[in-house]
Amino acid sequence: MGNERQLKLATQFVAVRDVNEYRATIPAWVSKEDVVLEIGCEWGTTTALLAQHAKEVIGTDISPECIERARRTHPGVRFEVLDGFDARAAVGFGKAFTKVYIDMSGLSGYRSLLDAISLMMMYATVFRPAAIVIKSGALKHFASHCVAWRPAAARPEAAE
Ligand SMILES: C[S@@+](CC[C@H](N)C(=O)[O-])C[C@H]1O[C@@H](n2cnc3c(N)ncnc32)[C@H](O)[C@@H]1O
Repeated sequence: MGNERQLKLATQFVAVRDVNEYRATIPAWVSKEDVVLEIGCEWGTTTALLAQHAKEVIGTDISPECIERARRTHPGVRFEVLDGFDARAAVGFGKAFTKVYIDMSGLSGYRSLLDAISLMMMYATVFRPAAIVIKSGALKHFASHCVAWRPAAARPEAAE
């Protein structure tokens, strides 16, 4: 049950189904004021696109091999090894991230819905970014069936 002391979320969550949708969000959600963290960057293709729109970006992946290849392929972009579940290590980058992009393998199925939600809540709490974009087909499907119910008195359109 919520109460007045519970965390007031400052973050919007954007769930996308696949890599095309993931990349298509960039012009809509990222601007030149943004400092962006990408979690699960693999070879850095999306990180490099983010770099074109953001003030600053760090691409991260749990795989040192991926990070090595990303650094070789995109020498102008910063890449670091990071386990996405270790938000304390992300704090160690010393950046106030305003947008977080998450594309970790294993997050798309229904069985990982709770992992996806707990990851988003963790990064929303630690960095308070304006938005977190996450690639999870299961989350997108689930979210499209959710409605936050409000009583009629709280709905301006119902007052007419
Ligand atoms: C689908 S690929 C990412 C593709 C990339 N975002 C792009 O747009 O080109 C998923 C990546 O998640 C990484 N990954 C898996 N578990 C992770 C974790 N716990 N923390 C960070 N990265 C993880 C994998 O190593 C893999 O490179």
